[in-house]
Amino acid sequence: MNENLKKYFSYVFPLTKKIPSEFSGNLEITWYNGKKYLNTKNANYSYGSLQKILHFGLEKISLKNYNSILILGMGGGSVIQTLRNDFHFKKKITTLDIDPKIIEIAKSEFGIHENENLEILCEDAFHFVEKKLIFDGIIIDLFIDSNVPEKFYKKDFWKNVMKNISKNGFIIFNASLENTIQNELENIQKLLEENGFQISIFEKVENTNTLVLALKNE
Ligand SMILES: C[S@@+](CC[C@H](N)C(=O)[O-])C[C@H]1O[C@@H](n2cnc3c(N)ncnc32)[C@H](O)[C@@H]1O
Repeated sequence: MNENLKKYFSYVFPLTKKIPSEFSGNLEITWYNGKKYLNTKNANYSYGSLQKILHFGLEKISLKNYNSILILGMGGGSVIQTLRNDFHFKKKITTLDIDPKIIEIAKSEFGIHENENLEILCEDAFHFVEKKLIFDGIIIDLFIDSNVPEKFYKKDFWKNVMKNISKNGFIIFNASLENTIQNELENIQKLLEENGFQISIFEKVENTNTLVLALKNE
């Protein structure tokens, strides 16, 4: 069935194609009410509520001041679409994902392709930030199904993230949330504040996730 027919039929019933991933279990590409989503068993990865959550964070920032953004956790690339189409951000975006299957899906199913202003890498975000490259903004959107892997709440990761940020940069962290990570979040907030970031925490964005916004003022 071609894409137009799938879109049409999806108003009558959802259509789902499952693709196994070694990281996220079955990835589900679902057409529903004329729109295509990337989901896992328990979570929306791209083009659904996840995209709205990051849109909410980006609204709080004046993107015209920034020249480069790093997205950790590319998924299907919905925040790239948000940045380009909703916020008219035309400058350099670097994005990465640990899962080659996801990158393939972003390209073949969602039309996300590399060009001179979009670099796509297949790497573990935890090690990527050890390189200490400099970006004006970092969006941290790292999930395996509905959980943020433990290591992304740890000090080692956050110390490196801060070394990758320019002097007036921003960080948006999509922090899930389970109540159980409240302590970890408080530690991250403290560390960021000690290093000159102003923090805002938004709870229950889209009725689910906690979003952390950190602005560096030097
Ligand atoms: C919610 S999705 C990202 C959605 C994406 N930001 C968007 O705009 O559509 C979470 C992604 O994090 C990726 N991920 C999980 N652990 C990772 C890691 N250690 N390094 C890089 N990517 C990782 C997953 O493969 C998944 O694609």
